[in-house]
Amino acid sequence: MAKDKTVYTCSECGGSTPKWQGKCPNCGAWNTLIESVAEPAGAARNRFASLAPASEVAVLADIEAAEVPRTPTGIAELDRVLGGGIVAGGVILIGGDPGIGKSTLLLQAVDGLQRTGVPALYVTGEESGAQVALRSRRLGLDHSQVKVLAETQLEKIQATIAAQQPAVAVIDSIQTVYSEQLTSAPGSVAQVRECAAHLTRAAKSGGTTIVLVGHVTKEGALAGPRVLEHMVDTVLYFEGDTHSSFRLVRAIKNRFGAVNEIGVFAMTEKGLKGVANPSAIFLSQHSEPVPGSCVLVTLEGTRPMLVEIQALVDSGGPSPRRLSVGLDRDRLAMLLAVLHRHAGVACMDQDVFVNAVGGVRISEPAADLAVMLAIASSLRGRALPKGFIAFGEVGLAGEVRPAPRGQERLREAAKLGFSVAVVPKANAPKGGRDFEGLTIHPVERIEQALEVVRGLG
Ligand code: TYD
Ligand code: MG
Repeated sequence: MAKDKTVYTCSECGGSTPKWQGKCPNCGAWNTLIESVAEPAGAARNRFASLAPASEVAVLADIEAAEVPRTPTGIAELDRVLGGGIVAGGVILIGGDPGIGKSTLLLQAVDGLQRTGVPALYVTGEESGAQVALRSRRLGLDHSQVKVLAETQLEKIQATIAAQQPAVAVIDSIQTVYSEQLTSAPGSVAQVRECAAHLTRAAKSGGTTIVLVGHVTKEGALAGPRVLEHMVDTVLYFEGDTHSSFRLVRAIKNRFGAVNEIGVFAMTEKGLKGVANPSAIFLSQHSEPVPGSCVLVTLEGTRPMLVEIQALVDSGGPSPRRLSVGLDRDRLAMLLAVLHRHAGVACMDQDVFVNAVGGVRISEPAADLAVMLAIASSLRGRALPKGFIAFGEVGLAGEVRPAPRGQERLREAAKLGFSVAVVPKANAPKGGRDFEGLTIHPVERIEQALEVVRGLG
């Protein structure tokens, strides 16, 4: 195949140059030039122009708002994050650490689809066909009719997709695919972007659903899935601690459904199994309460979940450390300042570590109160009472703000047998401190929350 001309495009200013240089000749930025295929003269400058079919201008109200038809994968937790199932011509990116279960989940999903008569193609660039077959046997997918192609060259993959016309094609992984048009190594930003753009175009024009697998990489030669987020329709990320058996799949972008929905799975001997009722899996089982632990009721997507927040406050050196796992570190610094300023809890000369149990990542501010109570508990060396939960956002002025859908959170905690709750006043049920067996302590300020906790023992 004749090679198109390649140019080097600056990721900062968008200018291009025919030769690679360390410094962009247009804007002077360093290390921003990325190899790309030069557009033939006269072609649209926008490389994504062909992704959206050209159409007439129409009045919004006149456009028929048809629901996109979806094909369920049959894996309920996956369908939940996808917004019901896969969409023809949709492009899904699934990111996650190596070994977390991406290939396992996708093989299970395409096999399920194939069994309902949806033709599926699994392109493997990381493993041989035999390895994929071995995994399918392990997963108990006997007599699977899924078509497998062990190939890494983009042009051949495209030709196969065009010839086979599968309804769904998995590319595992996009970082192993390379195009002959570029001289950059497979996995480089240039290759990953170029190949993903071609496959996206193929999806849109042929109506095939394309699933791109992307390994999250630490800084280095391999481009991570983040560089593709803007071109795909749906972005899912695997979360979870590879040491625990639970895995979360979170939708962070979805043109066809709600975001921040999560699917919960357990990795078993026979692959990933959906966990339909995940609310209690992120609790570590202490027989007696321990200092520095507070259970948070968090709302992930549409389901409340209980997650244990652990804090360890320990005397630090001259520049004490603040570390967090599963929680935002900047927010931790802010909460420590609020604790000091408004509640007189000083950790200035202490190392502070906080951790959300089970490798779950918590981004909602409603975790603030639980984080602060865990820190105060660790600092004082006194455990929170047995059966205790908390949630609520804490502002810079020390005020405790309500969390969305407080009643649902309380109901879930009550259902799991928790007995005491410190919650924002606006989330407390009106009239009475008892809620389905939970004793509710409404608070308006952080110092008040600490006082309530002290009073409880
Ligand atoms: P894999 O899907 O290969 O991860 P990824 O594609 O994200 O790199 O999952 C690999 C891990 O899952 C591996 O450590 C073995 C484990 N596993 C099971 O525990 N049970 C199974 O049935 C399978 C297939 C894998
Ligand atoms: Mg894999």
